[in-house]
Amino acid sequence: MKLFVDTGDVEEVRLAAEWGIIDGVTTNPTLIAKSGKGFKETVLKICELVPGGAISAEVVATDYDTMLKEALEISSWHEQIVVKVPLIESGVRLVSTLSDKGIRTNVTLVFSVGQALMAAKAGATYISNFVGRVDDLGADGMEAVRDTVDMINTYGFESEVLVASVRHPMHVLESIRAGAHVATMPFSAMKMLFKHPMTDSGLARFLDDWNKAGLSIS
Ligand code: E4P
Repeated sequence: MKLFVDTGDVEEVRLAAEWGIIDGVTTNPTLIAKSGKGFKETVLKICELVPGGAISAEVVATDYDTMLKEALEISSWHEQIVVKVPLIESGVRLVSTLSDKGIRTNVTLVFSVGQALMAAKAGATYISNFVGRVDDLGADGMEAVRDTVDMINTYGFESEVLVASVRHPMHVLESIRAGAHVATMPFSAMKMLFKHPMTDSGLARFLDDWNKAGLSIS
């Protein structure tokens, strides 16, 4: 499964990239606004920090013609850029156009299998199914992910299911169980994946025993 970090903060990208385990980065208008830096500048820096990674950058218009202009502009910045497009009618039309041109897309704000079907039919590279925002409403956000993975596999669509709006390691575990292709998460949630209390206590014990014995490597 691919792991993307969901951030507009280049320092977080730098730290995650150092681990050597990230396959890409997702941004959205909120995250870019939060970064306090320019859009193009931020996205290009992220491309540089994650060589070969898929870097999602989102259009902000909602009418087809302007969305197309934005998408062509954004995708011209760097070959690693994946154009992120909201799941609205003009967005699905845009994804069909970009797909015909060989431009990769990430369809965002997908909450249902019906929406995912529209994205897959249009040729989306990634379908971003949001889970945390659904859980916040007291429903099961992973349900649509499971059904969408089944749909993709049953009909042989080429789109990858990207689990977005991830809040904690259980979402990652459930994404693996569902057979999702990608999970994107905030840097803070990614750091939680390292954690297990027995790793900490086990390491403390190893080091304590080593030091008490007065050993050294060389
Ligand atoms: C996905 O690409 C989105 O940027 C993101 O996962 C949204 O997550 P949120 O619900 O935490 O804002």
